[in-house]
Formats: sequence, structure tokens, C-alpha cells
Amino acid sequence: MANRDAAAFPDPDALDIHRTARHHVAFGYGVHQCLGQPLVRVELQVVYSTLYRRIPTLALAVPLAELNFKEDMLVYGVHELPVTW
Ligand code: HEM
Repeated sequence: MANRDAAAFPDPDALDIHRTARHHVAFGYGVHQCLGQPLVRVELQVVYSTLYRRIPTLALAVPLAELNFKEDMLVYGVHELPVTW
């Protein structure tokens, strides 16, 4: 997958919110690039800054290895995300 190309993104499987890479294709590319991306970028800035400020002890309630990922679906994610705080 393009966004996991180690030649373009060092250690591509690591979640690194300090990456300076701006050439990812998470929102597509060219004329059909995602029209919602300005909205999504603002939403995520608000969510991440607010969530950890309001609930600083937020953490996974189960080991990471126990999470059930949607590997076989069009939209990726987790089936459940048990958390504790
Ligand atoms: C994290 C959330 C989102 C991601 C990762 C995302 C990703 C993408 C990607 C990869 C494409 C290109 C699909 C293609 O090339 O065929 C796309 C297209 C599009 N997205 Fe998003 N999207 C997100 C949220 C949204 C939201 C919230 C909206 C609307 C409010 C939206 C509206 C659209 C539209 C209208 C297109 C089609 C653009 C076109 O074909 O010209 N997206 N999105």
C-alpha cells in the first residue's frame, strides 16, 4: 500500500504524529482528491487536542494484541475499542 512504502515513509507501520511527511495519499490524489479533507483535518485537531486534555488517563482496557481489526472490510478500523480512564 502506498502509505506503507518504507522507501517513502521510514518505519511506516509506526504511528508517529510528528512525521513531517506531507506526500501521503490518505485523501487520494489529483482531481478526485477528498473534498472533505479540510473538515476532517479540523475535526481531528479538535478531537485529539480535546480528548487527551479532558481525559488524560484514557488508555486501552485490553492488550493491543487482543483488538479485532477490520482487515476484510472496505473501511479499516476496529470492531470494538475497549478503553479505561
Ligand atoms: C478521515 C476521513 C476521510 C478519509 C481518509 C477520506 C479519504 C478519501 C479518499 C482516499 C478519496 C478519494 C477516492 C478516490 O480516489 O476514488 C476521497 C474522496 C472523497 N471524499 Fe473523503 N475521506 C474522508 C472523509 C470525508 C468527509 C468527512 C467528506 C465529506 C464531508 C468526504 C468527501 C469526499 C468526496 C465528496 C470525495 C469524492 C471526490 C471526487 O471524487 O471528486 N470525505 N476521500
